[in-house]
Amino acid sequence: MTGSNPDKKLTEDERDRPKKSKKKQKKEDAWRPDGPRDPFAMLDSLPEKKQQELQKALHLFYLGQSLPRNMQQAKKHTYRFWDTQPVPKLGDIVTTHGPIAQGEASVRMEAYSLPQGFSWDTLDLSNPAALKELCTLLNENFMEEDDNTYRFNFSQEYLQWALQPPNWLPQWNCAVRVQTNKKLVGFVAAVPADIRIYETEKRMVHVKFLCVHKKLRLKRMAPVLIRELTRRVNQQGLCHAVYTAGIVLPSPLSSCSYWHRPLNPRKLVEVSYPGLRLKMSLQRALKLNRLPEATKTPGLRPMTKADVGQIHSLLQTNLSKFHLSPILSTQEVEHWLLPQEDVIDTYVVEGHDGKLTDVVSFYGVSSTVLNHVVHTGLKEAYLLHIACTATDPADLMEDTLVLAKSKGFDIFCALDVMDNMSFLEKLKFSISDKSLHYYLYNWMCPNMSPDKVGLVLPN
Ligand SMILES: CC(C)(COP(=O)(O)OP(=O)(O)OC[C@H]1O[C@@H](n2cnc3c(N)ncnc32)[C@H](O)[C@@H]1OP(=O)(O)O)[C@@H](O)C(=O)NCCC(=O)NCCS
Repeated sequence: MTGSNPDKKLTEDERDRPKKSKKKQKKEDAWRPDGPRDPFAMLDSLPEKKQQELQKALHLFYLGQSLPRNMQQAKKHTYRFWDTQPVPKLGDIVTTHGPIAQGEASVRMEAYSLPQGFSWDTLDLSNPAALKELCTLLNENFMEEDDNTYRFNFSQEYLQWALQPPNWLPQWNCAVRVQTNKKLVGFVAAVPADIRIYETEKRMVHVKFLCVHKKLRLKRMAPVLIRELTRRVNQQGLCHAVYTAGIVLPSPLSSCSYWHRPLNPRKLVEVSYPGLRLKMSLQRALKLNRLPEATKTPGLRPMTKADVGQIHSLLQTNLSKFHLSPILSTQEVEHWLLPQEDVIDTYVVEGHDGKLTDVVSFYGVSSTVLNHVVHTGLKEAYLLHIACTATDPADLMEDTLVLAKSKGFDIFCALDVMDNMSFLEKLKFSISDKSLHYYLYNWMCPNMSPDKVGLVLPN
């Protein structure tokens, strides 16, 4: 991450874009309110129906300008922001390992400039009011493609889990507000993480929850958020980051696919769950996806706090097999895995001698189903870790599906990372059209296949 600014007169956002005519510049600056004009107050003053029409039009407009989803599209895209950043260029074949930008002597002291009418803030998530505001922003705006069918329903407990691991810092919860009414309209966060990349171990951050209010999209606010977060991370002496995205940016370290396993096929069909292709009748889907009533693995039980030490060893042994993996402390194992209702579930297999042989964990993401006559909510489970030394991973995973279903999850999602391919097809997961690309900031190293990735980053 770069810290100094040799080009002092321009804002960073201005530096990343080519020179434009005044007229064009004025058009791009339309989101920046003149004087006391507040864009939200203006929109909110319109009748509800008008607001919905505008929202629909914005959605169509947004889809028309969507960012690259695959390499072919990426090759045609001009990365006005990312081409200025220390990341490998698309198409470069990297064979060496190391930082891209060498450490800067000084880190910029002052925050990056925001357009008039907006201001930076730090969200202290130990304050319940700030947490509630973040919930509202994300739940109303975080969906990548809002066609008015789903909305995330992140709970405050989920956000605390995702954003407050050991050593989290409030200043890394970087927020943009409208000055007049203090409305939260932009956010990006970083949490500390020790990561092993091939043979190198690095303290870095995991960047998550990049979000801009729907009404301020496509106005280059994301690059300003990323630059400001980078500055705040640099201030703590860190200069590398790991992040994931569904879009292709320069340049994926690995490109993985999501696999889905229906737990409640009827409901998934009824709500038209995105990306799920059930090429069969509902009756057949119900039969095919039927699960046993009870789990089979002897000694399988929920994790307790007393298990932290043994789970730590099991995970570290398993994770050392991969080229990209977290190095977890025992405090982090406790934070990320200790069960919390509707946030994180972890199960262990305990042998007769009290020794733990296997562990599996998954986190839950809830959504609100909009405009449906029967269904109001949807629960997705995401595989976080699985490490086995005695049980067949497919058997442990089948039990995990049974447990997730009994807890009311509708679908189980897993990436084709780690050794997951060994059981995905066998357990009737099917590949979705959703990819997830892994990226490193300011670090180059050779690409890796998904089975060499030992890192799952919950949003
Ligand atoms: C992601 C989001 C903040 C981008 O904002 P936006 O208004 O669409 O885009 P902006 O005009 O502000 O900025 C565009 C720049 O940001 C980059 N960008 C967009 N999404 C990005 C992402 N997820 N990660 C990193 N950079 C991203 C674009 O590539 C572009 O840079 P480029 O010119 O180098 O290509 C916004 O679409 C959003 O809030 N989406 C919903 C939440 C979401 O999907 N978050 C990302 C989770 S990975």
